[in-house]
Parts: sequence; C-alpha cells; structure tokens
Amino acid sequence: MRFDILTLFPGMFTGPLTESIIKRAVHASLISIGIHDIRTYAIDKHHTADDAPYGGGAGMVMKAEPLAAALRDVTAEKLASWRVDRVTDRAPDSHAVTSSPGHHVILMTPAGERFTQSIADELAGYDRLVLVCGHYEGIDERVREALIDRELSIGDYVLTGGELAAMVVVDAVARLVPGVIDAESIGEESHSAGLIEYPHYTRPAIWEGREVPPVLLSGHHGQVAQWRRQQQLRRTLERRPDLLKRADLTAADRNYLQSLGWSPENHHELA
Ligand code: 6GU
Repeated sequence: MRFDILTLFPGMFTGPLTESIIKRAVHASLISIGIHDIRTYAIDKHHTADDAPYGGGAGMVMKAEPLAAALRDVTAEKLASWRVDRVTDRAPDSHAVTSSPGHHVILMTPAGERFTQSIADELAGYDRLVLVCGHYEGIDERVREALIDRELSIGDYVLTGGELAAMVVVDAVARLVPGVIDAESIGEESHSAGLIEYPHYTRPAIWEGREVPPVLLSGHHGQVAQWRRQQQLRRTLERRPDLLKRADLTAADRNYLQSLGWSPENHHELA
C-alpha cells in the first residue's frame, strides 16, 4: 500500500514514520510512504503557499495553485510508478496500472468526519491514500471541491496543523495491511470487537506484592478465555458504556453485564 502525504512541514514526518513497526513495514516493502513539500510546487520566487483570505479576517488560507499542482503530480504520475515498482517479477503491463482501485484523497482538517477504527478498516482497502495536511485557516474551498474525496479529523480538539493527524491515520491504516503485524493481534484488540481490551500480565508472577490473577496461571484455556471476555465487558461498561450498544454480545455476555447492573435499555448508566 502506498501513502503520499502533502505538507508544508515535511520535516515533521521523520521520526514517527521512520521508527518501529512502520519502519519495518517500509523496509519489507509492505507499504511505501512519500512525503511531498507543497511549497516546492509554488512557482513564485518566494514559494508562497498561503495568502490572506478574500473578504478579510484573521489567518491565512492555503493557496489553490500549489496545492492543486502537488495533488495532480502525486495522483497522476506517481501512481504508475508505484504500481510498476510492485510488479517485480514480471514486465510492467498496463493492466497492473488500470486495475488499481485508485487513490483516495483525504484532507486532514478539524472540520472533517471523525476518524474511527471502522474508517481505518475501510481505508486499508485502498491501494493508495493521499493525505493533505491542512494548515492555517484551511485550504481554498475550490481545491476542496475539485480534488478532495474525503475530510477527516482525529478528534474534537484543535491541532496546529494536519500533520500529526495524518501520522495517526497512516499508522492506524498501515498496521492493517497484511503482514505489517500478526493477524491475531488485529482480531483481539480494543475496538475491533467493539470492546475495550482485557488486562495483560507477564513475568514475574508477583511484582511489588501484586499477584497475577491465578486463572492466568491455571492452564485452563477455557477459563482464561471466559475471564478475559468478562474483563473486556467489565472494562467497557466502566470506561466506555457507549460502545456496548454497538458491540457483538452473546447471551452469556448480556447475563454477565446484567450481573454488573447493566441493562440494555439504559446503556449509558454505570454499574
Ligand atoms: Cl485533522 N487537523 C487539525 N488542525 N486539528 C485537528 C485535526 C486535524 N483533528 C483533530 N484536531
């Protein structure tokens, strides 16, 4: 999978995208990431990428031409080269290019739709994502209309720019690409099942007087699984009761939750 990020601050991306799991995924050619400096597409001698808003008011607006030029360059020309790069063991053919599901252009903005795990799952189905990092008061509306497919925010707070948000999206989507992390951890983690994760323990069995729950040392796989499921349910009820209305609950799950004081009609109340 290919990610292209358009930004006024390319230096912000070294570090988060060059360490740990993302670094390994890039080295294994499971993903590839291009960082593009929008300013280099500004043709005036000062490389102006922003300007004052028509109609007046505070702040600056990202100009249409440099952003559009950057987007067109990244979405048109580089698509073919990425597809061809991946076809390593046979001659590049036009089918490899045209069969691509295509790129999806996302603007990172606090005015966007809230990014969730289900959006991450959906985005992982694309072959190429292009992320535009909004800055200042935003981008010229006409570029948004003409070239942006989707707008995403990572939460209800305001950041100084879309860069950190773009890194969050790349990280959350990249780890869903087959081979980037083991499939088992994707299935079990918080949010994919609609529940918070159960608690984890590793050696030593007693740390500063605190013991590991005995069931985990028992070797009874069935009891371990039941304990973990109940921990997930209990934690979700305590921390994120809103998640329970969308969670996939069995009859046993419901009984357990009801023993903690939960009632299906009244899912916002804590036990
Ligand atoms: Cl995508 N951008 C900015 N500037 N602030 C945000 C955000 C994005 N998501 C949450 N806050």
